[in-house]
Amino acid sequence: MRLVFGSDHAGFEFRTGLANVARSWGHEVQEVGAMSTEPYDYPDAADAATAEILAGRADLGVLICGTGIGVSIRANRHLGIRAAVCCSVDAAILARQHNHANFLCLGARLTQPDTGTAVLRAFLETGEDHNERHERRVRKLDGNVS
Ligand code: RB5
Repeated sequence: MRLVFGSDHAGFEFRTGLANVARSWGHEVQEVGAMSTEPYDYPDAADAATAEILAGRADLGVLICGTGIGVSIRANRHLGIRAAVCCSVDAAILARQHNHANFLCLGARLTQPDTGTAVLRAFLETGEDHNERHERRVRKLDGNVS
């Protein structure tokens, strides 16, 4: 799978570690946003990462900041982006199945590395549930109520 990983400075080390884990699983990974722990604004990381998905250059994305919240708020301002903050494996599975989430958001300051790896694996290995009710609800996320 083609993946884009983005973060601000608070998520930089967590992101590089998780991106390397994803590479070890065989994924094609690009990294955007902060390239060090120097201050970097999280909305800019979200914009850079979502641009890759919206342009069709990546299949799924991961966004990391201190809490996962700032990047998720900004990412979800882009039509077609469904970014979910997931603190557990179950949340990641349901975000993919029910919400067709295309971004996993994680909080580097709140997530243990092992948990992050397990949540990432669940997110990447779970497909979208195309049951009619989920399709209808996901269409409504983008304002399509027909
Ligand atoms: C940076 O200090 C922090 O505010 C940011 O990483 C993030 O947690 C915002 O939501």
